Amino acid sequence: MVEQSQNGLAKEIKRMARERGAIIVAHNYQNDEVQDVADEVGDSFYLSRVCAKSNAKVIVFCGVRFMAESAKILSPQKTVLLPERSAGCPMANSITAQDVVRLKAEHPGAPVVCYINTSAEVKAECDICCTSSNAVRIVKGLPENEIIFVPDINLGSYVAKRVPEKKLILFNGCCVTHNRFGADEVVAARQKYPDAPVAVHPECSQPVCELADFIGSTSEIIDFCKSSDKKRFIIGTEMGVFHKLKADSPDKEFYLLTPRLICANMKMTSLQSVYNALNENKTVIEVEENIRKRASACLERMLALK
Ligand code: 13P
Ligand code: SF4
Repeated sequence: MVEQSQNGLAKEIKRMARERGAIIVAHNYQNDEVQDVADEVGDSFYLSRVCAKSNAKVIVFCGVRFMAESAKILSPQKTVLLPERSAGCPMANSITAQDVVRLKAEHPGAPVVCYINTSAEVKAECDICCTSSNAVRIVKGLPENEIIFVPDINLGSYVAKRVPEKKLILFNGCCVTHNRFGADEVVAARQKYPDAPVAVHPECSQPVCELADFIGSTSEIIDFCKSSDKKRFIIGTEMGVFHKLKADSPDKEFYLLTPRLICANMKMTSLQSVYNALNENKTVIEVEENIRKRASACLERMLALK
């Protein structure tokens, strides 16, 4: 197709979305111009709610596969499009349904909490889903004392520390992006900007989380910086959050903990891919009905709690 200017593309995207009755949602890690063209931008929990409640016929999910899949699981009657077919999440791909079945056999009676960063097949084997913004509350609220938590060992360790009365059985998955740096980089950043609070995502390693002033989901980090009276912040999550951080607080300064905080999968989606998605109806997300029903129960249990 003929290449268009970014502005022209954004206008065309809006026009096509209106014509098709589509809503465009984007995760906080998406490229700036993709966030700008979206109707809703937010963290995983917020976007899963938006998609579940939306009356749109089509959802264009600018994010990674497990997010679009979650939207389809909750709204099977809607067409869900993932603009970049190969935008996946290595953490979600690190665990299979068979891994969960094995863990359940090893720990009979222990409920399974899965991070939303999992495939539909994995969710279908789990009891309740969580995101980084509600994981502690969900684990705390379960009546059982022994709980299987998959797949993120970092988020699991973060939760285990805050719910010491329960025994968590963890899987050995992690986010390559957030696990890429250690405490030494937090120490170095603090030396450079001693007055700046450090805000990190719970997907960071335990030594990093222990040195942080604030730990939260992408949107919680954005809200923390907005409401703080500090002027400078060290950010320990994917660089896409800078778009909203700067828009919310143009007078504040933000420093990325390390330049390596980039999720290649989240950065695949461009305005051109959003345009192509609407124009060519791609990539349509499908989930086999038996898997979808069981995965839906897992997601619905989480949504019912908030
Ligand atoms: P949030 O739920 O905080 O948006 O995080 C999703 C994610 O993939 C973080 O790497
Ligand atoms: Fe997955 Fe990590 Fe990218 Fe989030 S930042 S989508 S957990 S690889």
